[in-house]
Amino acid sequence: MNIHPEQIAAAENCIRPFFERDHSGHDWDHIQRVRRTALFLCRQEGHPNERAVELLALLHDVGDDKLYASNEEAQKALASVLSSLKLNASNEESLRQDIHCISFSGGHESKQLSKEAAIVRDADRLDAIGAIGIARAFTYGGLIGSKFYHEDISVRECMTKEAYRTEESTVINHFYEKLLKLKDLMVTDSGKKAAQLRHDYMQEFVTQFIKEWKGQA
Ligand code: ADP
Ligand code: NI
Repeated sequence: MNIHPEQIAAAENCIRPFFERDHSGHDWDHIQRVRRTALFLCRQEGHPNERAVELLALLHDVGDDKLYASNEEAQKALASVLSSLKLNASNEESLRQDIHCISFSGGHESKQLSKEAAIVRDADRLDAIGAIGIARAFTYGGLIGSKFYHEDISVRECMTKEAYRTEESTVINHFYEKLLKLKDLMVTDSGKKAAQLRHDYMQEFVTQFIKEWKGQA
């Protein structure tokens, strides 16, 4: 897909006001970090189409149900930004598919992942781990009123949405439930390498956190 700089600027202008209002961990800074990390991975992978990767990084959270009041609103937002790009029908359809493949809470493990989608999905997952991932998890935990930690529920690996809404949820549990599993879901070689570094950092953080909690460090 041949993307022009004006299309990137159009996408940015269209979505920025929406993401600047977000407080759920998908704010404009998240979009910008994913954009930079995706471009970094793109270069590491030797993938030639940097602009397509950049555009997809900008759009990867647009139309994600959980960020909008309703599914209709989500679809409207996606349609509006796509129309501002003036793509032909087949390019628009492949961009839609790529965006759909990136949502990881939806668990869309598509077999036909394009290289651009693989890069951006890895970049999005990288933003949930490492130092940034730790910061995002504690911010989100504060938002939903989670405790930092509780001995009895620190190693539960699979929590229901309902459990998250009760005091059973802790931020440290979220590391076991999701964040420490993400490195094994990376698909690009450079994504795997970056994920390993972030994973080790995060694992060390959790180990130290629990030692401090128990008065052992
Ligand atoms: P996505 O699937 O796009 O990462 P989420 O809404 O699941 O979106 O997560 C947004 C951010 O909030 C991520 O960094 C994630 O790790 C964090 N997060 C999500 N759920 C929890 C939770 N229950 N406790 C702590 N952090 C969470
Ligand atoms: Ni994202």
